[in-house]
Amino acid sequence: MDEKAHILTREKPDVQGDAHPKQLLRTILEDGDHLLPLEQQHILSADQFSPETLLQLFRLAAKYEANPDRFSTPLQGKILISAFYEPSTRTRLSFESAWHRLGGDIMSITDRSTTGIAKGESLSDVGEMFNNYADCVVLRDTRIESLNEMRSSLRIPIINAGNGLDEHPTQAMADIYTIFKWRPELINKDLEPEKRIKVGIIGVPDKMRTVRSLLKIFSTFKHAFAEVYLFNDENDACDKQVLQEFIDRGLNIIEGGTRFKELVPELDVVYINAIAWTGDDFQTFGKDFTLTPETPFKKGAIVLHPLARGEELSHELDQTGFNWYFSQARGAVFVRMALLTCLVHRKGRVLDVV
Ligand code: CP
Repeated sequence: MDEKAHILTREKPDVQGDAHPKQLLRTILEDGDHLLPLEQQHILSADQFSPETLLQLFRLAAKYEANPDRFSTPLQGKILISAFYEPSTRTRLSFESAWHRLGGDIMSITDRSTTGIAKGESLSDVGEMFNNYADCVVLRDTRIESLNEMRSSLRIPIINAGNGLDEHPTQAMADIYTIFKWRPELINKDLEPEKRIKVGIIGVPDKMRTVRSLLKIFSTFKHAFAEVYLFNDENDACDKQVLQEFIDRGLNIIEGGTRFKELVPELDVVYINAIAWTGDDFQTFGKDFTLTPETPFKKGAIVLHPLARGEELSHELDQTGFNWYFSQARGAVFVRMALLTCLVHRKGRVLDVV
């Protein structure tokens, strides 16, 4: 397609990565049984999913993505409380978009000072009230403990949309969904060793919830990864105990330190994140790293970024084939649609497509 046609059709240029989800669909076996245990489950950590459950969720997500207009009402009559006590663009709006696309209704809280929390009400009491109002809660909070405080009184499922430095499980699900759309053969447990990929992560798992949850999800599909490099600024080395935790899970983690430029020509996937929430504020890491079109990427490599973007990711990469971060953000809507459908007893309404 030439440049003019892009303008006329408003389609994205071919250079931007966005594999069609049907390629992924062809790779995952049809069997929805692994989704049944998700009904009414709290989603707290990337740890709690088996590979089979994740793949079936991705199959449903890919169905939603391939046919966005076909399934519009499985959540009709259901209410979501979207409680975001920390700023968010993507997570809140993509969860809300997902729920709307499935025909449900939403009550949204974007500022804790507008609720009883400002008067000293506990999250446990807020959760007790939520039971009366909705069918599911999505919570983001600056504190790690908030998730369990609210969960303690909930009888409806809660989804962790980022709890301080701890975890962001649905982000990690969207991340690996993107990687599988890019290379569907990575799903195969019997993948030939030479087809395993090398990933470089610029970020620190002990300070960044996206990186921690991503490594947990990677360990669920460890057969797909030959090497996982972790890069960081000189002053922000990863906590050795945390690294050991992921090595013990079977990931071949290598401390790349500051050697990103030397190693990037070998990397199939570059994942970069720069922000870590610390209490009520955020800290920026990775000042020594900036990805630009001049970065010596491997041919065919992709760049992922959970966003929000800072100076570490040049806008000039947006129009290149390395840009899979927009596809990653887009895919998160469909992954969340799949998860929400399964949590609130409505999988049966889309059973024929699972
Ligand atoms: N990926 C992510 O968590 O982005 P938001 O902070 O905008 O939700």
